[in-house]
Amino acid sequence: MLYGEKNKDALEKARSIVIGYGIKKREAMIPKYKLRKLSMDADLAKALIEDQLLDEGNARQNLATFCQTKMEKQAVDLMAETLDKNAIDKSEYPQTAELENRCVNILADLWNVPKKCEYLGTSTVGSSEACMLAGMAMKFRWRNQAKELGMDVRSKDANLVISSAYQVCWEKFCTYWDVEMRIVPVNAEQLTLDLDHVMDYVDEYTIGIVGIQGSTYSGEYDDIKSLNALVTEYNKQHKNCPELVIHIDAACGGMFTPFAEPEMEWDFRLSNVVSISTSGHKYGLTYPGVGWIVWRDRKYLPEKLVFEVSYLGGEMPTMAINFSRSASQIVGQYYNFLRLGWEGYKLVHLRTQESAYHIGEKIEETGLFDIYNKGNRTPIVCYRLKEDAKYEDGTPVVWNMYDLSDRLRMYGWQVPTYPLPKGAEDVIIQRIVCRADLTFNLAESFVRDFREAIADLKEAHVLCNEKKSGTYGFTFG
Ligand SMILES: Cc1ncc(COP(=O)(O)O)c(C=O)c1O
Repeated sequence: MLYGEKNKDALEKARSIVIGYGIKKREAMIPKYKLRKLSMDADLAKALIEDQLLDEGNARQNLATFCQTKMEKQAVDLMAETLDKNAIDKSEYPQTAELENRCVNILADLWNVPKKCEYLGTSTVGSSEACMLAGMAMKFRWRNQAKELGMDVRSKDANLVISSAYQVCWEKFCTYWDVEMRIVPVNAEQLTLDLDHVMDYVDEYTIGIVGIQGSTYSGEYDDIKSLNALVTEYNKQHKNCPELVIHIDAACGGMFTPFAEPEMEWDFRLSNVVSISTSGHKYGLTYPGVGWIVWRDRKYLPEKLVFEVSYLGGEMPTMAINFSRSASQIVGQYYNFLRLGWEGYKLVHLRTQESAYHIGEKIEETGLFDIYNKGNRTPIVCYRLKEDAKYEDGTPVVWNMYDLSDRLRMYGWQVPTYPLPKGAEDVIIQRIVCRADLTFNLAESFVRDFREAIADLKEAHVLCNEKKSGTYGFTFG
């Protein structure tokens, strides 16, 4: 027997050869949850960490995330060069502040802010921070108006109205800032804001309604134009209440719709839309860490929320929950705007949508799934297993969506399985997020693997996920 007391010394020796391929044992055996006493060589540290990350999923095959997984080398170089700049130091880095300012202006223009409005906006750490700022602005403005109208603002919590297909950042906002979350349930046939019932949830304590331009669950859009009409009517009939306003959470659609469907009215063309947020790291095509918010007019951002930082010897207004963060994401975002222009964004998105359509069509062709979204709006494919699904030869499907996720994982693809939100929670779906780096060739490879996974499952005997439920690989991001 090779392994055992007898060969202890040999094992000691072997470890230093085998474990580290030349790495000394003392260095290979790293303490994981305590700081090492001694420092080590930089290359060695890098190699050790690379090893630790080896068995992690491959980002480009991660079809669960909306976040950008590939940027051009020039962008990456630029971002690396600007990692050391702190975005909040506007005075030290006025040119970086200028690039941020340009991005805000570009977005305001893309979102059709009316010429006469004094719009303003900022970069954020993703849509989550942007949604927090939007929510706070709505709450503070509502409270100012409610006080002026003589309402008792302490007797009841203010509330926010949103469909149950909301992203978790809204739950955080309502919890952190003591706002009642009024959730309009979706249903299995319609996964967007229910316009027949939304106004039943509104009263004079409503700080605003959130419209979602690209649901996290299915990629579908709320009908914001019709919502705007309802809100206009409500405001007409409730002149003695705080003005009811709409914020658009366009985490996914904010930098997709303006290029894919420029004629669609969902943005500042609608009079009650007072703010829009988006994730630069989704269809803004920048690596994770950047979001944006624009207010239609400065009157929708109460002054109390604006803080001054020094800028070129003067003061500059900022609104942010965080303080220090690297400027590199802002620079990366500006690079994309400059490099791609309007046409470039349109073409990149068109190509991504082509991949989504292809995947959606092929999944539909299997005859086993009901399709919610075939990349029709955002390039997201979302489907559920048909009740009583059968293979072409009549063999009934005995596996579930969790089994399929597992099977796809064997080919490296990460496809989340999860229940729909409140109102349709019995329905288990899968969602494939197509991003710019999912080329048509890759989409074809995915389809091949998907078909094989289904064929394999037909023959499979062991089903481990019979009792599995809940969320699987779905991270909301
Ligand atoms: C609709 C919606 N809102 C907000 C967010 C949060 O975005 P971020 O990850 O940029 O904070 C997401 C993320 O997926 C989303 O889909």
